[in-house]
Amino acid sequence: MSTASPVPAIPSVVPAGRMAGAPQPDIPVPGGLLLRPWRLADADALLAAWRDPAIRRWNRPAAGGAEEARAKIAQFEQRWHDEEWASWAIARAENDTVVGFIAVADLHLRAGHGEIVYWVLPSARGQGVALRATESVTEWAFGKLGLHRVELTHSVANAASCRVAEKAGFRLEGIKTSAALHADGWHDMHLHARIRDDGVLNSSKDVHPSAA
Ligand SMILES: CC(C)(COP(=O)(O)OP(=O)(O)OC[C@H]1O[C@@H](n2cnc3c(N)ncnc32)[C@H](O)[C@@H]1OP(=O)(O)O)[C@@H](O)C(=O)NCCC(=O)NCCS
Repeated sequence: MSTASPVPAIPSVVPAGRMAGAPQPDIPVPGGLLLRPWRLADADALLAAWRDPAIRRWNRPAAGGAEEARAKIAQFEQRWHDEEWASWAIARAENDTVVGFIAVADLHLRAGHGEIVYWVLPSARGQGVALRATESVTEWAFGKLGLHRVELTHSVANAASCRVAEKAGFRLEGIKTSAALHADGWHDMHLHARIRDDGVLNSSKDVHPSAA
C-alpha cells in the first residue's frame, strides 16, 4: 500500500469571472491621462494608428478601414468578457482625446500572468504617456486583478520601447530568439517582466505625488 500523500491541487491564481463579472473600469493615470474602455466612436484614432509607419513597424496592427476599426473595438470589449485581453484607450482626461492604446494581453488568469502591449500616437510621443500608462495598468494588473507576473516584450531594435520597459521597472530577463514576425522579417525580442510585490515604485508617483 502506498504511503505517499496526494499532491494537492494547485489553485487558480486569479479566479475565473473576476473580469467578466464586472464592467471594465476606468483607470486614472497621473499627469492628466485616463485609461478608459474603447468606444465605437474612437474608430478614427484606431485608423490613425494603423496608418502610422512606426506603429505599423513595431505593433504589426490589423489593416482596414472604418468598418474593420469598429470591429476591432467590438473585439476589445468581447475579449474583456472572455478574460483574454484587457484593452484601454489612453485618453487626455481634460478633453477625452485618444492618444494611445494599452492592454494587458494574452491573459491567463488561472496561471496568473499577462503581457503589456502599447502604442502612442505620434503627436503625443516623448511626454511620458507610455511610461505612466504602463505603470498605472501594471498597478491594476497586480492590485485589482491579482496577477502574479506581467511581461513586456519588444523587438531588440525598438530602443524607445526598451526605455519604457526599463523605466517602468520591467527587468530584462533575456532575449527570445526570432520570436516575432515583423514587416522586414523575424525579430529577436527582449523579454522584460515584473513580479507582484517586487517592490518597484512607480516613477510617476514621485513626480506627481498628489495625482497618485
Ligand atoms: C514606444 C512608444 C510606445 C513610447 O511612447 P512614449 O509615450 O513616447 O514614451 P515615453 O515618453 O513614456 O518614453 C519614451 C522613452 O523612450 C526614449 N526614446 C524615444 N525614442 C527613442 C529612440 N529612438 N531611441 C532611444 N530612446 C528613445 C525617450 O527618450 C524616453 O526616455 P527618457 O524619458 O529617458 O528620455 C511610442 O514611441 C510608440 O508608440 N512608438 C511606435 C510603436 C511602438 O514602438 N510600439 C511599441 C511596440 S513594443
